[in-house]
Amino acid sequence: MSDQASRLRDLAQGQRAEPTLFNCRVVAITSGKGGVGKTNVVAGLAVSLARLGQRVIVLDADFGLANLDILLGLSPEFTLEHVLRGERVLEDILVEGPEGIRILPASSGIQELTRLDTTSELRLVQGLQRVSATADWLLIDTAAGIHDSVVKLLMAAQEVILVTTPEPTSLVDAYAMVKVVHLRDPRKPFWILVNNGQSPEEAEETIGQLQAAAERFLGRSLQVLGMIPSDPFMLQAVRQQRCVAQLFPRSPSTRAFQQMARLLLDRVPLKKEGFTAFWNNLGAGPE
Ligand SMILES: Nc1ncnc2c1ncn2[C@@H]1O[C@H](COP(=O)(O)OP(=O)(O)O)[C@@H](O)[C@H]1O
Ligand SMILES: [Mg+2]
Repeated sequence: MSDQASRLRDLAQGQRAEPTLFNCRVVAITSGKGGVGKTNVVAGLAVSLARLGQRVIVLDADFGLANLDILLGLSPEFTLEHVLRGERVLEDILVEGPEGIRILPASSGIQELTRLDTTSELRLVQGLQRVSATADWLLIDTAAGIHDSVVKLLMAAQEVILVTTPEPTSLVDAYAMVKVVHLRDPRKPFWILVNNGQSPEEAEETIGQLQAAAERFLGRSLQVLGMIPSDPFMLQAVRQQRCVAQLFPRSPSTRAFQQMARLLLDRVPLKKEGFTAFWNNLGAGPE
């Protein structure tokens, strides 16, 4: 644990009125390659979980290409940038999306979440501690690729959803992601989600290939979250800047999201201190 991380924790604890446990599941959604549908998946899962009565907060941590708010047709006045600069508190930037999900919007080109100075990190930690106390799920839309900052977020999260398409490039990059995280924490729960497949057979084959590689080279298995077909309704929803799960409740992709949300609710355990563990890990994770 770095000095900075322990100092931060001391500070955070000192300023909290009483010790709090956060019953919030922290799940990061990532991909090896960009453009595979990650942000749409985050939005679809968030809306579907909300339909199951869950309180969901989505943290947009893709600072390079922050677009969750654009995808959902929101125009946030303030973003994480204002919080990090100390101009706003986290509650000020929360925007409400479809089905009552709440979004913490990023803005493009700001410092990475995992490379903040102590003051900025403290602002974020304390803010997230407060808002996550009112949520059942914290979903994190990470950037794509095996950069240190992304890997650190994945290490800190309770579980990881890995989005890939059946394209060989996406699949190879997805495996690389599993490998990098596995080498740091062999027990990190991974869920495979195949997006944009042309047929169930193609998606099955993708899942099979990824699982075979993980078993053969890493000696581990990956859980299957499911597959989302290539869906013209999703394209239409994107054009209208709405979430497909909200706009087209009976579309193939919405049905898939609903199934996945039920599976997550069933299988991702609610751990006491889920959120606290997230931040402790983030502070103490590999540099
Ligand atoms: N299942 C799907 N069916 C049809 N189009 C899709 C699907 N998934 C993604 N897309 C298309 O891919 C684009 C990129 O998705 P996005 O979620 O922004 O990817 P990422 O966050 O991985 O960069 C979407 O705008 C949409 O046009
Ligand atoms: Mg994205």
